[in-house]
Amino acid sequence: MSELRTIHCSKYYLKNGEPMGALDDATMQVGDGRFVSIIGPSGCGKSTLFNIIAGLTEPSSGHILLDEEEITGKSGRVGYMLQKDLLLPWRTILDNVIIGLELRGVAKKEARRRALPMLQKYGLKGFEYDHPDALSGGMRQRAGLIRTLLDDKAVILLDEPFGALDAQTRLQMQNWLLKIWSDFRKTVLFVTHDIDEAIYLSDEIIVFTHRPGRIKAQIDVALPRPRNEKTLMEERFLLLKRELLLMLREERSPCG
Ligand SMILES: Nc1ncnc2c1ncn2[C@@H]1O[C@H](COP(=O)(O)OP(=O)(O)OP(=O)(O)O)[C@@H](O)[C@H]1O
Ligand SMILES: [Mg+2]
Repeated sequence: MSELRTIHCSKYYLKNGEPMGALDDATMQVGDGRFVSIIGPSGCGKSTLFNIIAGLTEPSSGHILLDEEEITGKSGRVGYMLQKDLLLPWRTILDNVIIGLELRGVAKKEARRRALPMLQKYGLKGFEYDHPDALSGGMRQRAGLIRTLLDDKAVILLDEPFGALDAQTRLQMQNWLLKIWSDFRKTVLFVTHDIDEAIYLSDEIIVFTHRPGRIKAQIDVALPRPRNEKTLMEERFLLLKRELLLMLREERSPCG
């Protein structure tokens, strides 16, 4: 089992000596093997929440539970792909994806042995010994995700992994991610700004208000799987899209 819960998580940062709220009282549950997306305006605390879950930032109040065990402030308990792809330009793709294993003390040779079949099976065959600058944006994101998967955690956090990709590549990457998700049965928490993407991928969508982010709604995506391009045209898809668009519209700042 691998169920993630956040209990009344809030975060305040100090700005010019004054507390500034980034996240307000987030209580949510991501069930075992579920794919849950978070959408919400820029600056509403999505990455902050991920940093808290990953143990990189302490919440101002609240707790994180993984299978009922308190993991607040503990790092290394969930897989995390940060908003910015952090491939090291001087390392080959193979040596980039094994960084997590190396940090855990796995010998380089053994780490490479584990990583090679993953790269070959999931679309990076022939690029194992290239450096990141020789890859397309989509391929770099694949490498980032494979690195996260090699970390072998039951819960993974993906912060806008496809944000910088064009629409066509994005759809390919979404299908690729769904394939990986069904192969590995991970519990996934995913951040995106793209409503279509959130619906297409998810079992549930959590909508945040503008900063400080509060949970505005948690919505079930009752669309059958496997999903494909036709899903994007289904009436249920379009109705949900409209509902989410209206919710996000209410959260626009007066200047936006
Ligand atoms: N280390 C920090 N110190 C001070 N303020 C911070 C820090 N990290 C984030 N913030 C502030 O907290 C708020 C939430 O930031 P966060 O990065 O979590 O938003 P986000 O929802 O991920 O936005 P985006 O969609 O643009 O990625 C923002 O106002 C940001 O400026
Ligand atoms: Mg962010």
